[in-house]
Amino acid sequence: MKIGNLDIGKKAILAPMAEVTDAPFRQICREHGAGLTFTQMVSAKGVVENAFATLKVLAFSQSEKPIGVQLLGSDPEYIAKAIHELHSFKPDLIDLNCGCSVPNVCRIGLGASILDKPDLLEKLVKTMVKAAGKIPVSVKIRVGGDRQHVTLMRNAKIIEDNGASLITVHARFRSDSYKQEADWSWIGKVKEAVSIPVVGNGSLFEPEECLRMMNQTGCDSVFIARGALGNPFIFSRLNAMLSTGKDPGKPKIDEVASAALRHLSLLIKDSGQLQGVKKARKHMIWYFRSFKGISSFIEKIYSLEEAPLVEEYISEHADKIKKNVYPEEDLSSISQSFKDRVLFWMNEKQTQEVAKQ
Ligand SMILES: Cc1cc2nc3c(=O)[nH]c(=O)nc-3n(C[C@H](O)[C@H](O)[C@H](O)COP(=O)(O)O)c2cc1C
Repeated sequence: MKIGNLDIGKKAILAPMAEVTDAPFRQICREHGAGLTFTQMVSAKGVVENAFATLKVLAFSQSEKPIGVQLLGSDPEYIAKAIHELHSFKPDLIDLNCGCSVPNVCRIGLGASILDKPDLLEKLVKTMVKAAGKIPVSVKIRVGGDRQHVTLMRNAKIIEDNGASLITVHARFRSDSYKQEADWSWIGKVKEAVSIPVVGNGSLFEPEECLRMMNQTGCDSVFIARGALGNPFIFSRLNAMLSTGKDPGKPKIDEVASAALRHLSLLIKDSGQLQGVKKARKHMIWYFRSFKGISSFIEKIYSLEEAPLVEEYISEHADKIKKNVYPEEDLSSISQSFKDRVLFWMNEKQTQEVAKQ
C-alpha cells in the first residue's frame, strides 16, 4: 500500500491505542514486522498549548519511522495550528480520530461524534490537507452512529474528495461495544466506492483473519488493535503468510517470555523502574493470557514493584508453564473477557484523562 511516498506493501499497521501504543510497544511491534505504527491519540488543543501530558505521549524518535500521529480535535483552527507544530516532528502520516466512541469524548464533539457532521468533517479534512502539505492525511471512521444512522459512504466520499490519502474503516458503529462483532462487509463497500487506499479494522486476532479481511473486502492493509496486545507475533506471522503462504504458528512459551521480558526492559528504560513496572503489568498479563496459570499470574504481578523481581517471576512463570504444573483453567472464557473488557486497568476517570491528553 502506498501512502504518499511511503510504501508499506501489505504489511499490517499497529492501530493507535491510548495508554498502550507508547514507544516501547511500538518498538516491539516494529521489530516483529509492523509496517507502520501510530502514536496514541493526542488532542490538537494539547499540541497547540504545548501541554506536557500531550507532548509526552506525542514524542517519538526518528528511528521509529514510519510512524503516524493521530489527532483528536474538532476545531479547524486548532487542528491547523497543531499540524503546524507537528511538522518539526516529521511524522509520515497525520490521522484524524473520528472513531473514538468513549462517551466523554463524543459528548464534547470529538472523535466519533464528527461522523454525524458532514460539513465539519469536510472542513476538517480540507484544513488538515492544506496544513499538512506533503505529509499525507488519513481519517479513521466508523460505520455510523448506530444501525439507523449509517454515514459511512457519505463520509468516505467527503474524506476522499477533500484530499485525504487514506481512510481507515473500523467496521463497527459508535453505539457498539466490543461485544458486537465488526461487520467487515462495510469495508468492502468503501473500497469499491473510493480510489484512495482503504485500511480495514475490527476484530483481527489471528493472521489468518487479517488475510481473510484483505481477500473478502479488497482492503489495502489492516489496522491491528486488541489483536496485538501481548501478541506482536501477529505481525511476523502475517508477514510470513504473505511471503510464503504458510503460518509459522503460535509462538512457543520461550518466545513469548523473551518478548515479554524485552518489552519490560524497554518500558523500564523509557519510564524508569517504578513507572516502567506499573506500565508493564497489563502488557505482561496480555502476553500470558492464553496460557494456564494466568489467574495466579494476575494476582502476583500486581504485588511486585521491583524490576528484578518481576523479571525473575516472569521467567519462573514461563518455566512452570513449560513444565505444565498449573491446574486446568477455562482459557477461552478468560480470553473472551480480555477482548470484551480490554480497558480493564482503567476506570472511568482515567478514560476521561486519556481523552484530554
Ligand atoms: C486500549 C485501547 C485504546 C484505544 N485507543 C484508540 C485511540 O487512541 N485512537 C483510535 O482511533 N482508536 C483507539 N482504539 C480503537 C482501536 O484502534 C481499534 O479501532 C478498535 O479496537 C477495533 O479494533 P479491534 O477490534 O481489532 O480491537 C483503542 C482501542 C483500545 C483497545
